[in-house]
Amino acid sequence: MDSSQTIDTTLLPRHIGIIMDGNGRWAKSHLLERIRGHEKGADVVRDVVTTCRKLGVEALSLFAFSTENWARPKLEVEALMRLLRKYVLDERAEIMDNNIRLVASGQLDKLPDSVRKPLFTLMEDSSKHSGMTLNLCLSYGGRQELTDACRKVAQKVKDGLLQPEEITQQVISQHLYVSDIPPIDLMIRTSGEQRLSGFMLWQNAYAEFMFPKEYWPEFNRDLLFRAIRDFQTRERRFGHISEQLK
Ligand code: FPP
Repeated sequence: MDSSQTIDTTLLPRHIGIIMDGNGRWAKSHLLERIRGHEKGADVVRDVVTTCRKLGVEALSLFAFSTENWARPKLEVEALMRLLRKYVLDERAEIMDNNIRLVASGQLDKLPDSVRKPLFTLMEDSSKHSGMTLNLCLSYGGRQELTDACRKVAQKVKDGLLQPEEITQQVISQHLYVSDIPPIDLMIRTSGEQRLSGFMLWQNAYAEFMFPKEYWPEFNRDLLFRAIRDFQTRERRFGHISEQLK
């Protein structure tokens, strides 16, 4: 039986990243409009956030909208923006009552006011929470994040606040969209696709990858537990050899 009972809570991934893929294909396979897949996907988001919080995961990053997704048909983009707004408004109580800190990664200035305003309000109101960080990746691209980080660092060098030789990995980390969450330990992409699509390139450097075949609307807590249990069987060597880890 799949349940959280069999998960070793002393060996949890500190940070889980998820590429929520397959909403459109799920909808198509049920002869539904694509947006129905996104709606069902949003329900799964609620369940996964609650489950991660209960388990004690420190951070959860969800790829909800990429920089490339702006190129989708206008009606789909608008529907996704409406869903994001609805999510932020509807989940306010859940986030506030469960000590969850909401943050967002991406070019947030590109989001419509209808999303940005409630998003920023909830981020501000939940900013002192310490139970779990929920990082919504919106208008997000990993190359863009690194480009934006380089710009910020270059500006500091130009202003004389930093010397080039002082640019370390830690300095780059500090200039990412969200700098105070650990690197991703477990990266899940649903729908069987085995690509990163630019998702958190820096943060995924040593992540363990899982590619469940289910579409995102079919994902559930048992599949999440399965991925975590699989993660717990992996030997993470971080470039060392097995014997050095003993
Ligand atoms: C990828 O599936 C999914 C997206 C581009 C959007 C993800 C959005 C949600 C899960 C719902 C809203 C999010 C939140 C946080 C409430 P796809 O459309 O690319 O699927 P396909 O590859 O099968 O076409």
